[in-house]
Amino acid sequence: MTRILAIESSCDETSVAITQDGELLSNIVATQISVHEKYGGVMPEIASRLHTENITICIEEALRKAKLTLEDIDAFAVTRGPGLIGCLHVGLQAAKTLAMLYKKPLIPVHHLAGHIYANEYVGELKFPLLCVVVSGGNTELVIMRGDMDFEIVGETKDDAVGECYDKVARVLGLPYPGGLPIDQHAKLGQHTYNLPRPQSPGPYDFSYSGLKTSVINLVNQLKMKGELVRLDDMARSFQDVAIGMIMEKAMAAAKDFNVKQIVLAGGVSANSYLRDEMKKAVEGTDIDLIIPPLWCTTDQAAMIAKVAEHLYVRKTFAPLNLGVDPNWKIDHWDDFLS
Ligand code: KG4
Repeated sequence: MTRILAIESSCDETSVAITQDGELLSNIVATQISVHEKYGGVMPEIASRLHTENITICIEEALRKAKLTLEDIDAFAVTRGPGLIGCLHVGLQAAKTLAMLYKKPLIPVHHLAGHIYANEYVGELKFPLLCVVVSGGNTELVIMRGDMDFEIVGETKDDAVGECYDKVARVLGLPYPGGLPIDQHAKLGQHTYNLPRPQSPGPYDFSYSGLKTSVINLVNQLKMKGELVRLDDMARSFQDVAIGMIMEKAMAAAKDFNVKQIVLAGGVSANSYLRDEMKKAVEGTDIDLIIPPLWCTTDQAAMIAKVAEHLYVRKTFAPLNLGVDPNWKIDHWDDFLS
């Protein structure tokens, strides 16, 4: 029997999960959204401090819910990156301390690998597969030809799609994080505003800063002319272009790499339009689609535990002098071994 305790603290959620032979026994999440909301984004210093306050409470609660003690745990897993440096440090120090005290392996996990493997709570991964990784910090198309084998074939050349949603929401006077409010308003509107579709360098690459600037300029122009900004229509026009770009690039990659499966990952994979468009795009094809349940689209440690299960079997463990990597690339997820 293998029991893994996993910690996630890369951004604004402190989370601790425990799995036993693949079964999720507990997944405690302390979110800081209500604190950061008033700043319109995550304040890194405050986030780190809150992780420090919450981490032991989350560990205790995860153990209590799983009806286990620290002595029962076989390995301690933790998000090592990418993320906010101070936040990552809190999780890593906690995991290292536990690994040292209880003389158990330390398993460092890539945050985006976690988002991808969260889909294993829904179904089996079938290779080759395309992961559409869309979050507040990342927009990537990743091809997996086997277990823990990641190749980034396309990525954003500037802003991440979630970041773009959040900035556009701010200009439209919507709360942070802006993804869900825009998604909701878009459902009520029509595509009436003409927003240019950004050009991006490679066939599977993205660019979102131009789209963000177009919305900001258009909103400012309308305001200067004293015209009303129709919120629902603006949200719909923006969402059509933002998600349209993901659909176009993802489906081109799926075809070119002849994938068996597409999986969605990251916060923006909660987007209802993206989910619907993906379902439509694979209809009548041989491509299988996994859409993560909403609880898997936000940051939590259950996804870190899922990756850790694979790494435990492979004995991919790290030395206790390991540091965090705020810019860790997914195709270098095992660089701590060299
Ligand atoms: O994965 P995540 O926590 O990102 C990082 O921290 O990197 O996802 C958060 C992002 C935010 O930008 C948020 O606005 C976006 O996911 N998001 C959405 C939706 N729900 C959350 N974007 C579009 N539509 C949604 N329904």
